[in-house]
Amino acid sequence: MNIRSPQTPAEWTAYYQLRYEVLRQPWQQPAGSERVPEDEDPATVHALRLAPDGTAIGVAMLQSAEQLRGQVRFMAVAPAWQGHGIGRELLEHLEEAGRRLGYLEIRLHAREAAVPFYKRLGYAVEAPSHTLFGSIPHFLMVKTLED
Ligand SMILES: CC(C)(COP(=O)(O)OP(=O)(O)OC[C@H]1O[C@@H](n2cnc3c(N)ncnc32)[C@H](O)[C@@H]1OP(=O)(O)O)[C@@H](O)C(=O)NCCC(=O)NCCS
Repeated sequence: MNIRSPQTPAEWTAYYQLRYEVLRQPWQQPAGSERVPEDEDPATVHALRLAPDGTAIGVAMLQSAEQLRGQVRFMAVAPAWQGHGIGRELLEHLEEAGRRLGYLEIRLHAREAAVPFYKRLGYAVEAPSHTLFGSIPHFLMVKTLED
């Protein structure tokens, strides 16, 4: 699978740009709103999926949370590539990274529209969580990592 952390300045730019285009721009959020301090944490795992021509088509990150947990954030697949297994590849890549880091569980706050995707990948809804941009309900979802 062609998934790894961005390696060059151009790849980092493409990484954050895809995040912005899929998760922030459609809600008129300002440039820069796609970045968080945890991006700079050395324990954070960044996952970038490139198409054969080098275009960024999928991104996701796994940050460290308390009590041997990881939290997946900013899962985004380019619209033209959605429904082709890229999201599954990204999530399984981060789960594997989480196992290597000794995490026992992965948590995430899923947009309502993405809940069926995460359920398909073995995540269970634990509770409703926040509403983003005043309009996107989220649900806290959890998956135990098997050995
Ligand atoms: C949600 C998202 C990351 C999923 O990635 P994707 O590449 O489209 O999903 P995949 O093709 O890897 O789907 C994996 C599995 O989940 C299933 N699935 C995906 N979306 C689904 C849905 N809405 N309802 C039911 N099943 C769904 C697929 O059928 C597939 O099942 P299979 O492996 O048995 O065939 C992607 O669509 C996306 O970026 N959406 C917009 C941004 C977003 O909502 N991000 C999540 C923020 S929490």
